[in-house]
Amino acid sequence: MSYYKIHDLENYFKMYKKSVREPRKFWDKIADDNFSWYQKWEKVFDFDFQEAKFRWFIDAKLNITKNCIDRHLARRGDKTAILFEPNNPDEEAQHITYNELYARVAKMANVLREQGVQKGDRVCIYLPMIPELAVAVLACARIGAVHSVVFAGFSASAVAARINDCDSKLVITSDGSYRGDKTIDLKSIVDEALEKAPGVEKVLVVKRTNTNVNMKEGRDIWLQPLLDEAIPNNVAEVMDAEDPLFILYTSGSTGKPKGMVHTTAGYMVYTAYTFKNIFNYEENDVYWCTADIGWITGHSYILYGPLLNGATTVMFEGVPSYPNFSRFWDIIEKHQVNQFYTAPTAIRSLAKESIDFVQKYPLKSLKVIGSVGEPINEEAWHWYNDHVGGKRCPLVDTWWQTETGGIMISPIPFITPTKPTYATLPLPGVQPVLMDELRNEIEGNQVTGSLCIKFPWPSMARTIWGDHQRFKETYFTAFPGKYFTGDGALRDEVGYYRITGRVDDVIIVSGHNLGTAPIEDAINEHPAVAESAIVGFPHDIKGNALYGFVILKETGEGRKQENLAIEINQLISDQVGPIAKLDKIQFVSGLPKTRSGKIMRRILRKIAEGDFSNFGDTSTLLNPECVEEIKNGKL
Ligand code: PRX
Repeated sequence: MSYYKIHDLENYFKMYKKSVREPRKFWDKIADDNFSWYQKWEKVFDFDFQEAKFRWFIDAKLNITKNCIDRHLARRGDKTAILFEPNNPDEEAQHITYNELYARVAKMANVLREQGVQKGDRVCIYLPMIPELAVAVLACARIGAVHSVVFAGFSASAVAARINDCDSKLVITSDGSYRGDKTIDLKSIVDEALEKAPGVEKVLVVKRTNTNVNMKEGRDIWLQPLLDEAIPNNVAEVMDAEDPLFILYTSGSTGKPKGMVHTTAGYMVYTAYTFKNIFNYEENDVYWCTADIGWITGHSYILYGPLLNGATTVMFEGVPSYPNFSRFWDIIEKHQVNQFYTAPTAIRSLAKESIDFVQKYPLKSLKVIGSVGEPINEEAWHWYNDHVGGKRCPLVDTWWQTETGGIMISPIPFITPTKPTYATLPLPGVQPVLMDELRNEIEGNQVTGSLCIKFPWPSMARTIWGDHQRFKETYFTAFPGKYFTGDGALRDEVGYYRITGRVDDVIIVSGHNLGTAPIEDAINEHPAVAESAIVGFPHDIKGNALYGFVILKETGEGRKQENLAIEINQLISDQVGPIAKLDKIQFVSGLPKTRSGKIMRRILRKIAEGDFSNFGDTSTLLNPECVEEIKNGKL
C-alpha cells in the first residue's frame, strides 16, 4: 500500500495516526517509494529541541534536480514542465517541456561552474518571474550551490543586506522587469546594491526589457552568449541529505532579516508529498500558483513541489490588474488551469472591482482553489468560493511559513469538509498544539492559544544562516521542547484550526511579512525624527496597513508635516521596499512607555484601530498623559 496519496477521510485519519505513532516508518516509506536516491539513509531522523538540531534521512545522498527533472524524462520528456505567461498578454506564452528544462538547467549549471561557482557557494538571484529565474534556481541546486532568491521588488539596501549576510560572490539579475504597464530597471538597483556589497565578483545579466544598462567591466556579463556556448548536459552533484539547498530571508520582529536555511532531502520529501495531496494533482492537470518565486510559496509550490510530481506549473510574470482586472481569470481560461493558488490580498483587491471581470469567464477547468499567506476573512472566502470556485471547487486555506518549508495545516480537497476562515486539520506528520501564557499545553477543543508544533517534520528550517543562537532563541525558547510559530490560533469543537494572526511584532501587509524594527530604523534615520513606533491596523484590501507614530526632534521648525511624511515614506521605500510604506503617519510628542522603557504597542494598536474602549492595564506606564494626546490626534 502506498502512503503517498490520501484517499478519503478515513484514510486521512489512519495516515495521521500512523505518522504520530510510527513517524519513522511513515516517512521512511514515503521517501523510499517516491524518489530517486544515490544512497538511502541510515536513520530516518534524529533531533534535539534544546539545541534546535534536526536531521532527516541521515547520510542519504541525492540531487533534488534529478528528482525534479531527470527521472521524468523517460515518461514525460515532452510534457510541459513550466508554462510561462508573460506580463503582456500579446506576447506568446512559452511551453517549456521537461526535455527542454533539462537542457536549459544543464547549460546554466555549466555556466555557473565555468564562472567558478562551487558546491556550497551562495548565489544571489534577483530576477523577475521569467523562465531564467526557475532555471537559475534549479541550476544552483544541480551543482550544489545554495540559492538565495531575493524578491525583485526589494530595494537596493535590502538586496545589499541579503548579499552581505550570506556572502554571495555571484548575482544573477536582468536588465529590467515588466510589471503591468511599468518597466523597472533591476540592473541599476543591483548596481546601487553592489556599492554596499563589495564582495560580489560577478553579475550575470539576463536580457528581458532591452533597457540600457551599465555593464561594469570585469564584473558584469550578459548571460545569453554564455548559455549559447554551454553544453546541454550536466552530471548532477551528489548532495548529502542535510546539505543546504537554499537560504530565504524573512522578516523578524527585531533586527535584520533572518536567512532561513532549508536543506535537501527532508524539504524534497515534504514539499512533494504536500503538493500531491493538497492540490490533488493528476497527470494532465495544469497547476497555477500566483506567488513570486522570491517567496517561500514560489519555492515550494511553483517550483519544487510541482516539478517533483512531474506537474505542469504556470509561471506568471505580471500582475492581476493588467491589462485589466480579468487577467487571472483570462489566464485560467486560456491555459485551462485546474488548480489555482493565490493570496487573500489578491482576492480582496479583485473582489472590490466589478463582478463582470470574473463573471464573464466560466472557469469550468478549475478543480481546486487555494489560499495562502495570511488569514482569509469570511467575505473574501465566500467571494472566492462562489465566484471563482463556482461553489464546486474545494477551497484549501493553507497555513504555513517560510520556516516550515511546506504546508502544515490545510484541508485535503474532496476529503476534508471545508469551513470558511479555517485552515482545518494538520497534514500527517504535523503535530500542532496550543499553549497558554504559562507555557502549558491547552487540551480539548474550543480553545485559543499560541500555536506551536511539538514534533519535528521533514521540511523544517534547520537554522538561521550564520546565527544558530538566534534560531534557537526565536523558535525554541518561548516554549521549551516545541517549535513556536509566532501565530495565535483557535481550535473549534471538532478540532479544526483557525489561525488568528501574529502574536509578535510582525505585521502582514498584502501577504508580506514586515518586521516593525527595520521600518522604525528607517524612519529614525530621518534627521528630524527622534523616535517612532509602527503598528498594523485593519485594511479592506491589504489585510493590514501600517500606522506610524513619530516624535520629531523639534516641532514647528518650519517644515511642513506633509513633506516630512513624504520624506519618511521615501526613506522606508529605499531601505525596506515600497511595500513597507506607511498609510498613516501621526506626529506625537510622546509614546506610551513602560517604566523599563518598552513601548506599549498594545495601546498604539488599539488607537490605530479606532478602538478607544479599553486600553487594559496602563498602571505600569511611565507617561500615561501621552495616551490622551495620541487619541485626540488619531488620523
Ligand atoms: O501569520 C501566518 C501567515 O503568514 C505567516 C508566514 O509568512 P511567510 O513566512 O511569509 O509565509 C507565507 C507563505 C507560507 C504565518 O506565520 N499565514 C500564512 N498562511 C496563512 C497565514 N495566516 C492565516 N492563514 C493562512 N492560511
